[in-house]
Amino acid sequence: MSRTIFVTNALPYANGPIHLGHLVGYIQADIWVRFQRMQGHTVHYVCADDAHGTPIMLAAEKVGVAPEKFIASIQDEHERDFKGFFVEFDNYHTTHSAENKELAELFYARLKQGGHVATRQIEQYYDPVKRMFLPDRYIKGECPKCGAADQYGDSCENCASTYAPTDLKNPRSVVSGATPVLKPSEHYFFRLSNFADVLQQWLGEAQLHSSVRNKLREWLDAGLKDWDISRDAPYFGFEIPDAPGKYFYVWLDAPIGYFASLLDYCKSSDLDFEAILAQSEMWHFIGKDIVNFHGLFWPAMLHGAGYRTPAALSVNGYLTVNGAKMSKSRGTFIRAETYLKHLNPEYLRYYYAAKLADGPEDLDLNLDDFVARINSDLVGKYVNIASRCAGFIEKQFDGKLAGRLHDEAIHRRFVAAAADIGASYGRRDYAAALRAVMALADEANVAIQALAPWAMAKDPARREQLHLVCTTFLNLFRLLTVYLKPVLPRLAQQAEQFLNLPAQGWSSVHKPLLDHAIRPYQPLLTRADPAAVKAMVAESTEDMKAAVPAAIAAAPSPHKSAGSGFGRAEGDPVGAGARDGAGKPSPTRGEGEKAAAAAGEIGIDDFGKVELRIARIENAEHVEGADKLVKLTLDLGALGRRQVFAGIKSAYAPESLVGRLTVVVANLAPRKMRFGVSEGMVLAASHGDGKPFLLAPDSGAEPGMRVK
Ligand code: MSP
Ligand code: ZN
Repeated sequence: MSRTIFVTNALPYANGPIHLGHLVGYIQADIWVRFQRMQGHTVHYVCADDAHGTPIMLAAEKVGVAPEKFIASIQDEHERDFKGFFVEFDNYHTTHSAENKELAELFYARLKQGGHVATRQIEQYYDPVKRMFLPDRYIKGECPKCGAADQYGDSCENCASTYAPTDLKNPRSVVSGATPVLKPSEHYFFRLSNFADVLQQWLGEAQLHSSVRNKLREWLDAGLKDWDISRDAPYFGFEIPDAPGKYFYVWLDAPIGYFASLLDYCKSSDLDFEAILAQSEMWHFIGKDIVNFHGLFWPAMLHGAGYRTPAALSVNGYLTVNGAKMSKSRGTFIRAETYLKHLNPEYLRYYYAAKLADGPEDLDLNLDDFVARINSDLVGKYVNIASRCAGFIEKQFDGKLAGRLHDEAIHRRFVAAAADIGASYGRRDYAAALRAVMALADEANVAIQALAPWAMAKDPARREQLHLVCTTFLNLFRLLTVYLKPVLPRLAQQAEQFLNLPAQGWSSVHKPLLDHAIRPYQPLLTRADPAAVKAMVAESTEDMKAAVPAAIAAAPSPHKSAGSGFGRAEGDPVGAGARDGAGKPSPTRGEGEKAAAAAGEIGIDDFGKVELRIARIENAEHVEGADKLVKLTLDLGALGRRQVFAGIKSAYAPESLVGRLTVVVANLAPRKMRFGVSEGMVLAASHGDGKPFLLAPDSGAEPGMRVK
């Protein structure tokens, strides 16, 4: 039975670039969509930019362009990056569109008519200088619990308590620095508690990972509060009908953006929007931090507006790189764009797939393992089968496969594996699917090794056997190609060209290719190069030093954590999920700003600005005409080389320094000195002008490591 499936990916915010963390969910969904299509199902797969809200409004203001223009240029970049990774949406739209406005108004009208909207006055912090109400993340002050300075208005990074911004001591506006004042305003609320029964039932029916279901149930059992869906001007969003100066909160129209993108798609491709919504299963692929929005508010909104609720939520965990949260200073906050300059997108698709199962566990991109895995699995196992056999067919048999196989049993086993591999893809256990594929590839390689076609090729008496054997292995290669195709669409397409086949579906595996002409073999995949990975990390480290584009620096970063919690407080969080209806957000962290420190003291954030790194002294030289200075060439690992002048000659002969490890201030602005430019500073201890002692790490430290 053929299914019709409406698939969405979370809509990325239009205020920053796509990075490797985002890509986990997009690649996961794209693989699933490709697999379902190979099964013959109909899939409508859409996405869009999430363009509204305070952070985007302020970011645009900061770079001095209209928000419409700002979001348009970010959307272009996002679309380019998704294409670069072969994430192929049927449609990519924006929440700032006519379709979304129309649908948001429709949802709102229906919810209101159903008695699900209430209004009441609330008091909220207001920036008297900037003349705007302040979202929690735009207020800082001292934590009411532990007194830590410089904490956001929703939660403390020091003691992890959550509170209301009005609890902060000495609050100030992040936007203008002014002391905020409390001001009343009328807000619109969605009465989520009207949907408690609906949600209970939905939880019982929808396809959800057990941990996601449990979390949602926990929130539900804790009781649902009304959800604040309005914001006061100035706000970049849609004005609420009949409520001048009031706007829909960004998270109200964001999921409606899924529908808007579908509607836009239907208009341009002559499909029936309402019919698709009525007939299809709706699958949302999202990250674990936005489960509350998709598992509580959205199904309730859908039900209240007379639409079908989602069939499933597929929830991905957070990406870590080399075992830690992505970090700009370590060069592991890697943009999609930067990756694509250095590495093949299919490497990442494969690596993620090999580590993805259907649960919301965090996923680690270990860069050494990444290189090893690609080279061993894809180059060493899969492609190897074709490259070992293709030449014989081409040169000795006119490029034509034989009329039968040398071993039908092995082919049958490979065909039979389609069922299990397909089932694994279907339940999004790609790790299991790829384990099975690689086990088959191993089996094929062992068999090739034992049969040694290259030896047969030297013996004219075994010519026919050579033909049959190579025909068999190219047939096995073809089956593996089909099994890898959802993950490696381009590689599979190239393999199909080599095998002289049309696009293969899942059911095309049953009949072997016999008496079939293939094309000359071209190398299908090159080895992943560790130097390219190094260069990518180095460039990503640079990214931070070469000031972050103002557009991105403008807004406090919505906190992202690689922790275990679901749901998050929001970059624009007044009434966002967590506090206003979905339980507590996980303790999260933002990238802090200056601490208000007592004289002589500095805050932890000030210290954090000093980037200390381990360096290896690669070379050390006397400096002509300087009696205190030594000229050092430092190796900072992935960060490259630096030239630094150090006043340590009174204690160290230059030769004695070569090879030693030391600590360097890596983000000191380059200083022009009499003898050349110094690109950093090494650390040494001394009494006043006395003999310096160079600092050195314990053994085991490596160049480039961050010192904290
Ligand atoms: N705009 C909202 C989603 C609205 S959906 C109606 C949003 N945008 S986002 O740009 O912050 O994130 C987009 C997607 O990327 C989300 O699913 C989010 O969970 C995911 N990720 C963002 N950073 C991530 C990692 N570091 N790792 C894995 N997924 C990550 O949320
Ligand atoms: Zn605290």
